[in-house]
Amino acid sequence: MKRKFDPKVFQLGYVALETADIERTKDHYLENIGMTQTAKGDDGAVFLSIGYNHHDIVLRPAKQKALLHIGLHLKPGIVVSDLAHQAREFGLAAMIKTDSQPGITELVEVEGPGGNVFQFYGAIEASAPGFKKTSVAPLRLGHVAVISSEGEKLVKFYEDFLGFWYTDDIQGIATFLTCNRDHHVINVVNAPESRVHHLAFELRGTANHAMAADALRAAGVKQLWGPSRHTAGHNLAGYHHDPDKVMVELYTEMDTFIPELGIHEPRPWHEYFPMKPKTWQLSELNAWGAEFGFNLAAG
Ligand SMILES: [Fe+2]
Repeated sequence: MKRKFDPKVFQLGYVALETADIERTKDHYLENIGMTQTAKGDDGAVFLSIGYNHHDIVLRPAKQKALLHIGLHLKPGIVVSDLAHQAREFGLAAMIKTDSQPGITELVEVEGPGGNVFQFYGAIEASAPGFKKTSVAPLRLGHVAVISSEGEKLVKFYEDFLGFWYTDDIQGIATFLTCNRDHHVINVVNAPESRVHHLAFELRGTANHAMAADALRAAGVKQLWGPSRHTAGHNLAGYHHDPDKVMVELYTEMDTFIPELGIHEPRPWHEYFPMKPKTWQLSELNAWGAEFGFNLAAG
């Protein structure tokens, strides 16, 4: 697979959300998901960790819910000032910030297409508050899906500026992109709205889907879709709403992309061999043919 350059980042670090009811939203991530608060900012923002990094989710109080920014971890060898310079050459505003948030000494904030704000950093403190023993207690934050009215420009930003690989799409509405071996780290939904579509946490194993769904039900949180197997990515996924009606996905068994071959590592449940990046239909979101209410664009 010919590429101009390798991705500038290697993983999703964190997602920062604004919320109108920070106590209620925070409680969901602490009590139901099983995260730990590691810090509180001067602006009332709370920093939540899954178990190792200083933060995986940031919640900031605001008048209404919104996606604040996405944190992406720079590949070793790319420093913040390089990224700032390259972003400006690409025509984007970039600002280097020092000690602007707990856990990260230096970062560069870039305003991407459609008002999507990114924070790029080379190091985040490993606070390691420990993994919780609740029923959900995910392993990590794996991906984020964003709805954007400038979806095409946003995809170009990921591909042409950051070097992400295209791994699949759903009728051109949702585009899956990766900067590592996960099927997707970012999913861009091209629709006339601008907000987060869902956040996705990886669970320890497939048996944990049932335990997670039972625990969420006990907390009064219903499943919106699944757990069931997707086609694009083939992840086993269950979705629920957080208190702000931001969708949260819990998943396992996501496809492994092999950039060197331009295919997804073969799996017995694949429909195609080799499983190359392709366009899937909206009518085939569910590999098992189960019918669940799931509006891709509306989320
Ligand atoms: Fe997802």
